[in-house]
Amino acid sequence: MVKLFINTNRKLGHINPELQGHFSEHLGRCIYEGIYVGENSDIPNTKGMRNDVVSALKEMKVPVLRWPGGCFADEYHWKDGIGPKENRKKMINTHWGGGVEDNSFGTHEFMELCRQLGCKTYINGNLGSGTVQEMSEWVEYMTFGGISPMAELREKNGSKEPWTVDYFGVGNESWGCGGNLTPAYYANEYRRYQTYVRNYNPEQPIRKIACGADVDNYSWTDQVMNTCFQSPEFLHGFMDGLSLHYYTCPENAAEKGSATEFDEKVWYKTLAKTFYMDKLIERHGAVMDKYDREHKVGIIVDEWGTWYSCEPGTNPGFLYQQNTMRDALVAGINLNIFNKHCDRVKMANIAQMVNVLQAVILTEGAKMLLTPTYHVFKMYSCHQDAKLLDSYVETVAIGLEEEYMVPNLNESVSLGTDGKIHITMNNLSVDRDYEIEGQLTETEVLEVKGTVLMNEMHAHNTFEQPEVVKLKEFNDCRIIDNRLVFTIPACSVLHLEVTVRQTE
Ligand code: AHR
Repeated sequence: MVKLFINTNRKLGHINPELQGHFSEHLGRCIYEGIYVGENSDIPNTKGMRNDVVSALKEMKVPVLRWPGGCFADEYHWKDGIGPKENRKKMINTHWGGGVEDNSFGTHEFMELCRQLGCKTYINGNLGSGTVQEMSEWVEYMTFGGISPMAELREKNGSKEPWTVDYFGVGNESWGCGGNLTPAYYANEYRRYQTYVRNYNPEQPIRKIACGADVDNYSWTDQVMNTCFQSPEFLHGFMDGLSLHYYTCPENAAEKGSATEFDEKVWYKTLAKTFYMDKLIERHGAVMDKYDREHKVGIIVDEWGTWYSCEPGTNPGFLYQQNTMRDALVAGINLNIFNKHCDRVKMANIAQMVNVLQAVILTEGAKMLLTPTYHVFKMYSCHQDAKLLDSYVETVAIGLEEEYMVPNLNESVSLGTDGKIHITMNNLSVDRDYEIEGQLTETEVLEVKGTVLMNEMHAHNTFEQPEVVKLKEFNDCRIIDNRLVFTIPACSVLHLEVTVRQTE
């Protein structure tokens, strides 16, 4: 019997709801078709937003949404996306697949989407091809409530009241598509640009995010921290977060591999590569500790997820891919890793929300399906705003190739805002169930309920069969001598909700 230990008295940190954040870029069919169809569409919508997609997302609980990119952010000029739609500039999205960008989804539409979702806003500004003035005016347009040219323009365009911008990113992948800058040059530019990202509403200050490293470029982290970190006590500091991008690609950048056709070797390789996220957070965190021992600056993993070859027959620039139980496990592992690093990781945004990369929703015309990844996010929403508890599960290494071995099990545990203990556990084995005995310190276990996502490794939902992979109740956890005894099925993601009474 495998032992799971939960020390209910050891609370290790607060799990920011933003660890379960999302990302939506003007890329392929993410925004257009996937989320926004326009008010005149036959697809039922509210102010242009698809009702089916918005209601599914609300049920899953989206804490924060990042927009407009991605690489698109550093080519985006926000004034193209405001005012009467018929006057907005039309152009080709040259970066992503050559589709027509008619700018019908702009700042007002994004704010409306976030209002409908009830989520926080994360805007990524253009440092690569934009000016300080352009960025500064965008912030003024969105957040200034007094008399000013930009506030007047906003009112003229239909929004008298300013909006709240919770997070603002200054450039995206500035080492690559965002301008190919060196870390030293970027760091100085960051200091300058962020100066004009003004906090017009001191009650709700904008949290500023500097562009972080490409995967394992620790020197980038070191140089940006060295130049840009300034304690938030001093003039509010220069930065609240530093981003990190890491995608799980099973094969290599050129030949990424199919989303649905893979063997057991590739299954374990994909999961092994997912665990690299843990190392990246530890190592970038250690560099940040040199400057910021108190963890005032958060790691913002604002792009993560699987990246496969796109679905055959689709535009390669649209990055449209299917989503199987393998993606469910990748999501479960990453979300557990973020929880366990909640003292440093303050936000994470899966790429991307609809129809792009590891999407939670896929659409085809008026049809919509929920992917296995969607169900994992829904299960894990119990951790939002919770307190991380100290936990440990006994593991063994499994896999088919020495360099891609993974632990058979992976977990995180929290004390939820509902006063219950929430255990999320992944069984990475393709074919082995494990019997678990869970022990909770100084706690009387009163009741346990669960949900599980399980199927064979290739299982996925299609528009013809949208419910192949779905959540099921899990009623097989027994309470024996105050211990939880259950069998976690092979290839599954499990959530147990435990009602307890503290005994000491
Ligand atoms: O998510 C797709 C792209 O991946 C983003 O636009 C970019 O930031 C990253 O390289």
